[in-house]
Amino acid sequence: MSEAAARREGGEDPSVARLRDEVWERLNRRVLSSRWFYDRRGSELFEAITRLPEYYPTRTELALLEAGAREWMGRLRPGVFVELGAGSARKTRVLLDALQERRPGAVYVPLDVSAEFLEATAAELRVEYPDLRIEPEVGDLTRPLVLERHGEPPTLFAFLGSTLGNFPPPAAVSVLRHVHDAMAPGDIFLLGADLRPGPGKTVEELEAAYDDAQGITADFNRNMLRVLNHRTGTDFEPEAWLHRAFYDADAGWIEMHLVTPEGAEITVPGRGTVRLAPGESLRTEVSSKYDRPTLDGLFGAADLEIVEWVTDPRQRYAMVFARRAS
Ligand code: AVJ
Repeated sequence: MSEAAARREGGEDPSVARLRDEVWERLNRRVLSSRWFYDRRGSELFEAITRLPEYYPTRTELALLEAGAREWMGRLRPGVFVELGAGSARKTRVLLDALQERRPGAVYVPLDVSAEFLEATAAELRVEYPDLRIEPEVGDLTRPLVLERHGEPPTLFAFLGSTLGNFPPPAAVSVLRHVHDAMAPGDIFLLGADLRPGPGKTVEELEAAYDDAQGITADFNRNMLRVLNHRTGTDFEPEAWLHRAFYDADAGWIEMHLVTPEGAEITVPGRGTVRLAPGESLRTEVSSKYDRPTLDGLFGAADLEIVEWVTDPRQRYAMVFARRAS
């Protein structure tokens, strides 16, 4: 039966059915997926987060890129630059400015899960960077990366924004393994990584980055419930949930939760009803914070070897260069 026919018979669209199954399973474990933050409004709220005074990672990474990009691009002279999870426009432009200057004719390959997003940004960038070729690819880092050959070696792969942190360690190794498998000998991988608390970063500062005074992060967190209501027909009341964010020093990550002070009953259409007691919470995100030994371990497990480690003076954030160990 076709999808349309299934809907006419009152069946579910298969993608909605899969999502309802996953939401049901995760609700029972009290662990939602950070993939569900990002509808249009969620992406706008994240953009607003990156401009908050408390949220240091974006501007710290941007400063490191501004300080290093020309030297790195001049040294590596990549024929292809693959940006994994095509990120914020400002960071991309710093790297593309340096690439266009140091290796005109190079190919920029933004890779993202959203084809629409990619085509919109590619069209703008082609106007701004006439000396680069821009060839977007749709891809998902939780799967093996299958890339066309876009240009001359070496290829620079970049995964910025500390987005790796959303993947708990076993999943992070599998992401790194997918990058490894897409690399040829001589290719370079650049990771942006937010670092653990230390002399230049208190736990309070770290936690404030995930619990800002204006409540933008709280709104971003609650937006996941709106996204689920919209996509799966759940009946969350977003305004009844409280935002919580804390650093777990043993795990080395920030956890974000939504707490139901009064308790809640949530129905997932066709699956059942979950009851939460007053004070229970749903975890919505982990954001891992790294140090050199931890990243050496994760990279090593993916057969990658760190060759350069650049941080800001306060050691709040690192730009990590790696190559294939084998
Ligand atoms: C986009 C995953 C890097 O973990 O810091 C920001 C997402 N969550 N504030 C992060 C986020 C709450 C962000 N990443």
